[in-house]
Amino acid sequence: MTLILGIESSCDETSAALVRDGKEVIALSIAAQEQIHQKYGGVVPELAARAHIENIIPVIKAAMDQGDVTVDDIDAISVANCPGLTPSLLIGVTAAKTLAWAWDKPLVAVNHVHGHLQSVMLDEEKDCFPAIALIVSGGHTSLYDCKSLLELELIGSTVDDAAGEAFDKVAMILKLPYPGGPQIEKLARDGDPNAIKFPRSLLGKGALNFSFSGLKTAVLYHCRGQDMLGADQVDNMTEKEKADVAASFQAAVVDVLTTKAIWAMEQMGYENILLGGGVAANTALREELQAKCQQRNWQCIISPRKYCTDNAAMVAGLGFHKFKAGLFVGWELEASSSSK
Ligand code: KG4
Ligand code: ZN
Repeated sequence: MTLILGIESSCDETSAALVRDGKEVIALSIAAQEQIHQKYGGVVPELAARAHIENIIPVIKAAMDQGDVTVDDIDAISVANCPGLTPSLLIGVTAAKTLAWAWDKPLVAVNHVHGHLQSVMLDEEKDCFPAIALIVSGGHTSLYDCKSLLELELIGSTVDDAAGEAFDKVAMILKLPYPGGPQIEKLARDGDPNAIKFPRSLLGKGALNFSFSGLKTAVLYHCRGQDMLGADQVDNMTEKEKADVAASFQAAVVDVLTTKAIWAMEQMGYENILLGGGVAANTALREELQAKCQQRNWQCIISPRKYCTDNAAMVAGLGFHKFKAGLFVGWELEASSSSK
């Protein structure tokens, strides 16, 4: 049995987790920063980094207390070192390197987005590969061709906004608090997804890249008028009108995401599809992808809701596979805002 300590700090969640053999989550501790960033409507990198500094040691200690483990029980440390906000990533990377040195443990580094992909395997053993993975978060909208957990090829990504970013921006237009995804989902429950025909930007039949900026602009025009002068028009909308905007916007995003995921599956001829990332917590997306896969007799494996948004369990989980493959890193490890 192998126990990995995972450390995650790529955006605005400081998290530590202990995971056994890549799937059994022994402990998970997360310090969120929503209250810090809420008044700015998005994550402020400098403030995020400062909060990570304050939170990193307490979350690691909390995970070790929760798991009732000592340093001797830990086989290796895994840290997300890319992609993300560099000042945020640096805190996790520095903590991981320091502990690996002080405790004399091997160190592995993982790509945060690949971690989201691994989260579908937490808690339960699943036979997943080969597969198409759709990873939808605040910073990424990505389609991967996955031969295995460590053989991933990016075959589609966003050319502008990420899906989660679009949720957050539309929430801002509707004057809902950050992060907007869960707020839009809640509001959409009382709305009609067919009330407004928002555009679906597919970029051509079979194309696997995504674009959400046109959709976001369409929502903006709808709520503020073509002249964009109606910023306060939202205040005059009824709750039902706002719910219709939320539901119609959500339906457009879900339609585009699932359509392209199906195209990728058809192009590769696979029968397994994986869904992860913060936006994968969205019920409409989960149900639509599941339904489309059921019609085709494909296996659709979705990350458990509690592991969709940023967490260190996925970092420890993927770290286990890198540990097994002997993919260790040294003290020269750096934090990087882009994927490596
Ligand atoms: O994966 P994540 O925690 O962070 C990044 O790696 O970016 O994803 C956060 C994103 C945010 O944009 C948030 O609004 C969105 O995921 N999100 C949702 C839901 N829960 C979180 N979007 C739609 N529906 C949700 N239920
Ligand atoms: Zn993430």
